[in-house]
Amino acid sequence: MTVPAFPLININDDMTEISQIQNRPFSPQLANSLLSYYGSPLYVYQSDLLNHSISHITSSIPYANTFFQFATVTNGNTELLKLFNSQGWGVHANTPGDIYLGLKAGFSGEKIVYSGSNLNPEEMAQVLKWGVRTLNLDSLSQLELLYKIHQSFSGDLSSLKLGLRLNEPKLIKDSRIGVQPQEFPEAIKIAKSIGLKIQGLHFYRGTGTNATQAFTQIIDDVIEIGKLLPDWEYLDFGGGFGYPYHHDKIAFDWHEFGQELSHKLNKLSKAIKLIIEPGRAVIANCGTLLAKVVSVKWQGNKQIIGVDTTVGNLSVPSVHGGYRKIISWQEKPQSLWLTDVCGNTTYSRDYLGKNCQLPALEIDDMIGILDVGAYGYAMSSHFLHRPRPAEVLLDKESHRLIRKREDYQVLIDNQILA
Ligand SMILES: Cc1ncc(COP(=O)(O)O)c(C=O)c1O
Repeated sequence: MTVPAFPLININDDMTEISQIQNRPFSPQLANSLLSYYGSPLYVYQSDLLNHSISHITSSIPYANTFFQFATVTNGNTELLKLFNSQGWGVHANTPGDIYLGLKAGFSGEKIVYSGSNLNPEEMAQVLKWGVRTLNLDSLSQLELLYKIHQSFSGDLSSLKLGLRLNEPKLIKDSRIGVQPQEFPEAIKIAKSIGLKIQGLHFYRGTGTNATQAFTQIIDDVIEIGKLLPDWEYLDFGGGFGYPYHHDKIAFDWHEFGQELSHKLNKLSKAIKLIIEPGRAVIANCGTLLAKVVSVKWQGNKQIIGVDTTVGNLSVPSVHGGYRKIISWQEKPQSLWLTDVCGNTTYSRDYLGKNCQLPALEIDDMIGILDVGAYGYAMSSHFLHRPRPAEVLLDKESHRLIRKREDYQVLIDNQILA
């Protein structure tokens, strides 16, 4: 393949510059042996990176009465959930499926906080049967459903803790989620009819916020709203903390947030328990999607790379317009080219990356899509009818399979073949 004459960038023969541009999470030799061993495409998670993020977030919040719950909506692989368990975190569940995965990973019902939306009666009963005892409900109607369910529920609900997801238009615009402060008295009345109190306030700012001040500036308002609940015991502050996918741009400052929040909670006359439930912020950086180049063509000075994965395997860049850095694993690239990285279907949105800066690539070269630990595999689907990749857990140089690669059988599972 003839490479055109005018690259976007010429790289000096300087390894520091190359490694900064490449920003590899692990060595090309290791990437190569993983692909040879497990096949391509492949989700790879690094336990040391994940443990590091968990410790960093945990140590950033000095407030003594703090509990961390990992939001499994972002990644439901039970082997990863076990790492959170071993570091003393619990699970935040958005759905009954999140709870199921948490239980399968070894968490007890008490270590799972449910803060989801719109359960039907069977699901509400199931959540209680599974032993989940902290529920942050989203509407008065879900509270009324709880009232109905509890009447015929045979288990012990004495340890049930109820919270409300907050909808305060001054703090979160246009949110469908939550209960507004003027509805609190009615909520308290319904809870009382079950013999319970509203003890929790749950605040979720919306996902992917990198500006620390967007959180610190509203702590006082959230606390004031919590005080409207006469039996207030815990504050669940989300969720929604950002991750810097553009590595050179602003990153959420956990230390600043932790200091501010702890300082304000410590000033309260009553000891309030704090729950923090990070999703993407804790798990995004530990995941890389490895893939191989299957086609190369040039349109003028632009390189069009076809790879053996698709937006069915990683929907964020195409469906949600999110940026994920793509690297090649070449040892000493000399030049970078404007490059589109395209999936292995003709779907018009099947781009894993547009206008990337990559070396001139060849068939069988490897690429890595970085920071896909959150909303990566979890949001993959069978759209485009390509089975999903395998998942591997990397512990320094040793590795093991934590989810099998799917085969075509998965496309007809549950279909009735007459
Ligand atoms: C209540 C709640 N907490 C936490 C999360 C995780 O969000 P993020 O990945 O933005 O931290 C979600 C995501 O839907 C959520 O709804």
